[in-house]
Amino acid sequence: MVELLLRPKEAMIPIKDDQELGLMRVAGRVAGTVLDEVAQWVQPGVTTKEVDEFAAARIKHHGAKSAFLGYRGYPSHICLSVNEEVVHGIAGPRRLQYGDILSLDVGVVVDGFIGDTAKTVTLGVCDPESKKLIEVTEQALYDGISCALAGNRVSDISRAVQARVEANGFSIVREFVGHGVGRSVHEEPQIPNFVTGGGSPRLKAGMTIAIEPMVNAGGAEVKVLRDGWTVITRDGKPSAHFEHTVAVTDGKPEILTWSERKLSELKVK
Ligand code: MF3
Ligand code: CO
Ligand code: CO
Repeated sequence: MVELLLRPKEAMIPIKDDQELGLMRVAGRVAGTVLDEVAQWVQPGVTTKEVDEFAAARIKHHGAKSAFLGYRGYPSHICLSVNEEVVHGIAGPRRLQYGDILSLDVGVVVDGFIGDTAKTVTLGVCDPESKKLIEVTEQALYDGISCALAGNRVSDISRAVQARVEANGFSIVREFVGHGVGRSVHEEPQIPNFVTGGGSPRLKAGMTIAIEPMVNAGGAEVKVLRDGWTVITRDGKPSAHFEHTVAVTDGKPEILTWSERKLSELKVK
């Protein structure tokens, strides 16, 4: 019975052909490059509004548009989430301080296709717990990516992410998950960062998915602020977020949201 319900859902997962994958590579490279540029530029004393304005200028420079501005009414060009803010923080007058951690999430559209990528950076040196949280969350992302293989199930990615996070004593946000990405920001399938009961879609070459662990130093519980967007941890402890858009291929997973800088590093090696 479960299989009968799941098959139609699997049928809703878009498969990209070579031309579409080429466009996803372009969008992904721009998203990764903008994320890299913003991460380099941000420093203590600037407001999240100023960071968002810098991001908007870089997105424009690369001939792209923000995929988030106006999405369900979202008001900023990128998502900026400070310390206990988990995801979907919006630009405003808050001034970043030395020791803060900042999760940046960049989504851009180029030629109708979207790249979606995030990372948590530190403003100067942060406390040791936050530093560990950031390292573990990034490692969990790469653990998940390594399981994005044709023939595996989505739950293989989820299991790998969850194992890394829980082995380090941190907790996984349940209310938000990764997703397919392509012509829309959010496509099928959902990519939870934890194993759920029930069936899980089979991965196929040509699927493009955003894997994005959101990890809390304290409890898993979150709530949304009165601004209607900013998600924060209930206990006020810090949270980290890393994300890449990845193509499932007949061979190894292809990370589509490497920055230009990272791509040139990978070429010379
Ligand atoms: N970046 C989020 C994701 O990774 C989506 C943000 S939607 C927005 O799925 F409206 F908040 F921008
Ligand atoms: Co994102
Ligand atoms: Co995403």
